[in-house]
Amino acid sequence: MGYVLGIDLGTSSLKGIVMNQQGGVVAEASSAYEIDSRAPGFSEQHPEYWKDACEEVLTRLSREVPSFGAELEAISFSGQMHSLVVLDEAFRPVYPAILWNDVRTTRQCQEITERFGKQILEITKNRVLEGFTLPKILWLQENEAEIWNKVRHIMLPKDYLAFVLTGELHTDFSDAAGTLLFDVRKADWSDEICDEFGVDRALLPPACSSLEQVGVLKESYRERFGLKQAVRVFAGGADNACAAFGAGLVNDEEALVSLGTSGVFSSFEQGLSNYQGKLHFFNHVLPGVNYSMGVTLAAGNSLNWFKKAFGQGATFEELLRDVGEVAPGSDGLLFTPYIVGERTPYFDSEIRGSFIGIDTHHELKHFARAVLEGITFSLKDSQVLMEQAKNKRFERIISVGGGAKNADWMQIQADVFNAEMIQLEVEQGPGVGACMIAAVGCGWFDSAEACREVFVHYKKRKNLRLVPKM
Ligand code: XUL
Repeated sequence: MGYVLGIDLGTSSLKGIVMNQQGGVVAEASSAYEIDSRAPGFSEQHPEYWKDACEEVLTRLSREVPSFGAELEAISFSGQMHSLVVLDEAFRPVYPAILWNDVRTTRQCQEITERFGKQILEITKNRVLEGFTLPKILWLQENEAEIWNKVRHIMLPKDYLAFVLTGELHTDFSDAAGTLLFDVRKADWSDEICDEFGVDRALLPPACSSLEQVGVLKESYRERFGLKQAVRVFAGGADNACAAFGAGLVNDEEALVSLGTSGVFSSFEQGLSNYQGKLHFFNHVLPGVNYSMGVTLAAGNSLNWFKKAFGQGATFEELLRDVGEVAPGSDGLLFTPYIVGERTPYFDSEIRGSFIGIDTHHELKHFARAVLEGITFSLKDSQVLMEQAKNKRFERIISVGGGAKNADWMQIQADVFNAEMIQLEVEQGPGVGACMIAAVGCGWFDSAEACREVFVHYKKRKNLRLVPKM
């Protein structure tokens, strides 16, 4: 039979998903953890949280799936991007991981941009943002010099977990690309950037393809979880790249919209970017290709805020029940979802949200619809940037995340993106992409396309490109 395990190291939890050779989900388990914020703008997690969560998930899967011990062949990862993990010479974390959504580094970003912004854009194809890794390194150098002096290894979250499981240090191209230290053109660390900012290349792990085997599961873990055979561990990739692969995006015919806490509009890229930093641009988990994306920082987060502030205890279902009764445009009520600042297209950590055009006849359902429309229009900005630069239109868009679970929101997406919206039959998030990496890596399939044929299925396209209700 044969199983692969995809581990998705997310921002709020770690999820494990076990899949078989037919692309069926055998089991899944997850373990949640906190984000620590000891000062305004700080967002941290101790790497131990991820290790503990991973061990808990492996324990549960090995107990709940009788054939787990006999059948597990390979493991791979999908990880939250950009977050800085630092270890000392004994491979112990010497500081909490500074997460992708930590915004303490605005000053460092300004300094990097003034000093080396042009070169960084040329080499990494990205502009300098608080979320990315390099500004976090500078912050550590400037504010925690004693800690920085102890640092011998810089890594990303999923690579720390791979190290815990195998004892080997690696990263993959898609995650390295989110550090601002990586030459996206050559798929290698950039000596120029490392030299400019005092980052010794020896601190960085070797970077390899996501599909490459980086080790085998340690004997101690094999015994602990009753695994009969040597379990191969593959590098895996950045969560957005894994989400794209797991949703079946393996060419540039379609784009992907993912509406989670943040919202992402992404597309596959054959060549190099000409976006001039207006969109993010990273190496993909698939060999030799890239992907671009625009990010709305508060997608589901805006809806959460709205529910908390105005929902008076209503569930999401109750809150959104009547939005279909409101005509597109929410009768003139507009919402901008910039409640925690915005990335694409404004790249402004100080911009804030708004409701505009409030009228006496607006009810809660108008506000709820305006929130959904505002989030969707914010991602439309990324769609427009991409389509203009590529000189093409996306006729079909795959929708995943919370936005794909609500029929009215799917309708809003079809209207706003003016495209046929596609939904996955079974949606399990970026962990599926990690499973597919393990499946291709361990030789179940000859190519990513062959794996997609078996692992990714879309719902019958009956409800898509709907005629808007007027
Ligand atoms: C991407 C980004 C987030 C994280 C979430 O640039 O910052 O989507 O990858 O895990």
